[in-house]
Amino acid sequence: MRIGIYGGSFDPVHNGHIAMIRSALKSGFIDCVIVVPSVRNNFKLYANKLPAPYRFFMMKETVEGLGLKDCYVSDIEYGIDGVSYTAVVLAKLTSDEYIREYLISNDVKRRKAEEHHEFFWIMGSDTLGTFETWYKPGEILKYASLLAAVRPGDNTDVDKASASIVKNLGGRVELFRLDGVNCSSSGITGSGDFSEVPEPAMEFIRRHALYTANTRLDGVSEDARKQFFDYATWMYQHLGSRRLLHTLNVGYLSAHLAEVFGCDKDKALIAGALHDCAKELPAEQQLEMAKRYSGELFTEKKLLHSPAGATFAKESLGIADKEILDAICYHTTGKDNMTLLEKIVYLADKIEPSRNYTDLTPIRQAAEKDLDSAMRMTAAAVRDKFVSQGREIHPMTVLMMKDLGM
Ligand SMILES: [Fe+2]
Ligand SMILES: [Fe+2]
Repeated sequence: MRIGIYGGSFDPVHNGHIAMIRSALKSGFIDCVIVVPSVRNNFKLYANKLPAPYRFFMMKETVEGLGLKDCYVSDIEYGIDGVSYTAVVLAKLTSDEYIREYLISNDVKRRKAEEHHEFFWIMGSDTLGTFETWYKPGEILKYASLLAAVRPGDNTDVDKASASIVKNLGGRVELFRLDGVNCSSSGITGSGDFSEVPEPAMEFIRRHALYTANTRLDGVSEDARKQFFDYATWMYQHLGSRRLLHTLNVGYLSAHLAEVFGCDKDKALIAGALHDCAKELPAEQQLEMAKRYSGELFTEKKLLHSPAGATFAKESLGIADKEILDAICYHTTGKDNMTLLEKIVYLADKIEPSRNYTDLTPIRQAAEKDLDSAMRMTAAAVRDKFVSQGREIHPMTVLMMKDLGM
């Protein structure tokens, strides 16, 4: 097969990206496109607006939602340590072993997946001029030809740039005509005009309340912001998409509530983001990790991930801050004498933007003004749910409700 590879931040994905994919597929040079949303590229190590998993799943939902045929989205960069340079990504992606398995897992017939493949790196013609300054450009050209999109009327420099690449580095450069809008992700987020964002991506953005004041993380330290981005990448290996996005949403909302109620924003961001990190570990491992953090306090299967999460965050990420670990440990049940941070993570978990188990509008409104009142409303909803399911309320939750005057 002739495979086009299209890398980018997609922060957010817009109609220009979609036009690029469609035009490349129509160019006659390739049979399919593999889109590779970046995790840590050298230009934007931490400069993206959103951590990698949001951008990855936004792209995936967009490709599916638009029904783009012969287009796949790859998470290959999560398996690369350090900066994901194009040369490094291509070395891995174009290896027989990797690409065959990847194509088969995307329902490409085995016979096709196992034939000899030719690779093309898809790029905008505006980046051709700087290609020779990229990391190991000669190596890139060993793995793939360049397939550059040219807008009608913008040929002159492009021809010169491609000739220079071929002369200095060898390899092959092909051009294709790009039909579509001219827009940029930074233009979209800068202006707040999202009209060039395709509907499936827009739906994703609304569901998770992305690109809002909360996700700018104003007032969060640069270190905490970097940690948040790194932990998001780390958790991709441990959680399914829904839960991963949920736990990151809780990070954002916790940081926002910390701002409203005068709590440490860095701690709230990290505790919120990690609160469910252990939820998909094997049950026995959760039990063992839970015991190490809180003894026999939690035995019910559904609750184990909270203390286990504290152990996981401590041992795998080296988080030593007891306040953060406790906020993770007690996020499901609550407890007596809760700290501000514990309350914030408890509440954010129940009402983050993608939660829709009931109409949460009144609680969300209360959470902007009166923390304890929002806590009471949440605890009452939890109590009602437990009563209707005939389940017993955990003694720690009973203590929390007593403290809240319930
Ligand atoms: Fe949880
Ligand atoms: Fe949760």
